[in-house]
Amino acid sequence: QRHLISAADLTRDDAVLILDTAEEMARVADRPIKKLPTLRGRTVVNLFFEDSTRTRISFEAAEKRLSADVINFTAKGSSVSKGESLKDTAQTLEAMGVDAVVIRHGASGAPYRLATSGWIDAHVINAGDGTHQHPTQALLDAFTMRRRLVGRDAGLGQDLSGRRITIVGDVLHSRVARSNVDLLHTLGAEVTLVAPPTLLPVGVDTWPCEVSYALDSTLTKSDAVMMLRVQRERMNAAFFPTEREYSRRYGLDGDRMARMPEHAIVMHPGPMVRGMEITAEVADSDRCTVIEQVANGVSIRMAVLYLLLGGNEPALAHPSPTTA
Ligand code: CP
Repeated sequence: QRHLISAADLTRDDAVLILDTAEEMARVADRPIKKLPTLRGRTVVNLFFEDSTRTRISFEAAEKRLSADVINFTAKGSSVSKGESLKDTAQTLEAMGVDAVVIRHGASGAPYRLATSGWIDAHVINAGDGTHQHPTQALLDAFTMRRRLVGRDAGLGQDLSGRRITIVGDVLHSRVARSNVDLLHTLGAEVTLVAPPTLLPVGVDTWPCEVSYALDSTLTKSDAVMMLRVQRERMNAAFFPTEREYSRRYGLDGDRMARMPEHAIVMHPGPMVRGMEITAEVADSDRCTVIEQVANGVSIRMAVLYLLLGGNEPALAHPSPTTA
């Protein structure tokens, strides 16, 4: 069975195929009737053990645009609160005849466990697990960068070779940063992480990217700057500089944005904390792609679902134990 567990499992060709397929899917959104019959008769369950706005709604929109039958499951209000395990929850859904499971879970490795345990026979798509991976977020970010920095039609078949991407903020707790570093490296981009030393993970020196503590000088050399949310819910207060200090050193405001090259874009995976990592002036500016990223997410998720369940294309990726 084919799955999408980690951005690190994707080859350059896999990733470019997904981006190109997403361009095809984006055309569906421009039609009066935004629907394809591709997944008619297939059932997809969205299994969310952690909160989500964008990813959950975006997967549901993508599944419905491909005519799949959709089951939405959130842990809140389910028998998980009575102590039911992931295995029993998954097998309950499997018994109802599910073809694919989109899973978000607070525990890093939960989607990998689901895909490789033999508990279920469905395709597994990781919608974010702990601080580990969020592969469809990285794909939609790469899609957005390719459209903006290479070109919509000119981008077909292309990667992001030579593009300079800066990721700023709470890298320690960010599955978005980890997934983006993996995918952007595969696509040929040069990635620089900028973060307070306390918000960098142990072992970051082995990641395929640079690390800098100097935001202002890095901004001037960036084609895209991705701001990360500070994930207070995952952190011990002792790790954290004061909000004011953080904004002063690592926040993006209008003055800082003005130092970026004219063509450079500002990205954020959402949810944003306005005033903390990004000011309202920057978030609402033409250079900020946050809303575009959300729209592109539907096309990317349609492409992933199509390639896993509906297409006859080569396997996206088989999860490897090293990326769990
Ligand atoms: N970017 C992202 O994963 O947002 P949600 O948590 O709202 O899904």
